[in-house]
Amino acid sequence: MRIGILGTGTLAAALGEGWARAGHEVAIGGRSQANAEKLAERLGHEVLAVTPREAAAGRDAVLLAVSWDGVGDMLALAGASGGTLEGTPLIDPTNAVAHGVGVLLTGESESMAGCIAGLAPGARVVKAFHLFPAAQWTSPPAGDTDPVTVAMCGDDRAALEVVSALVRDVGGTPAVIGGMDRARQLEEAAGFVIGLAFAGFDPNSAVPRVPSPTAAN
Ligand SMILES: NC(=O)c1ccc[n+]([C@@H]2O[C@H](COP(=O)([O-])OP(=O)(O)OC[C@H]3O[C@@H](n4cnc5c(N)ncnc54)[C@H](OP(=O)(O)O)[C@@H]3O)[C@@H](O)[C@H]2O)c1
Repeated sequence: MRIGILGTGTLAAALGEGWARAGHEVAIGGRSQANAEKLAERLGHEVLAVTPREAAAGRDAVLLAVSWDGVGDMLALAGASGGTLEGTPLIDPTNAVAHGVGVLLTGESESMAGCIAGLAPGARVVKAFHLFPAAQWTSPPAGDTDPVTVAMCGDDRAALEVVSALVRDVGGTPAVIGGMDRARQLEEAAGFVIGLAFAGFDPNSAVPRVPSPTAAN
């Protein structure tokens, strides 16, 4: 696939590395061209440094790997309101949560994924990759551990299939829980995990091991 990444930080680096290693063409665009070039060089695998607009246009999938409060600026740089992302699977991994507490900072019934869909007309938004630390995708656990489940949601079936493939490419198991109306719930789940982790508890120990009746994996 031809993948665009908007952002040059920790998550951009981790997923960029994973997808490039899996054989995809990865193009990185940041608000700082110098940072995009530094990251592309560090990742190797012929990763490209491009402008945000080039990272957005004509891609098979785009990852919006920016801080939640930079989403509007980055989508503007990418030309989203003019339709550069129209028809493109747009992955939203953002966590708009109060640092160390996990309280959502979006309006009461809003989701970041919904806001992003509003700022990027025609984009096929998929909420995904927001629950695991970036290091999950660069140092996957040892071979005998079960793959992690990446819960995601979105309204476009084809986009969900594209993102599911990208989850598998970095060693995860995709789990589509529903449409965009589930995005707020997925974002709350991240707030719950982040809040527990900062309070000194292992989030894994706070959810029951419930056997799945359909055992997807
Ligand atoms: N890191 C993780 O483990 C992890 C895991 C799951 C989800 N996430 C989510 O993924 C997103 C990226 O996280 P990260 O850890 O990669 O963050 P990061 O390392 O702090 O990088 C943030 C990126 O956002 C860009 N940015 C910030 N404000 C901007 C603005 N106003 N306009 C344009 N670009 C702007 C930064 O650009 P500059 O470099 O120019 O400042 C940088 O490229 C966040 O929403 C985070 O909640 C992160």
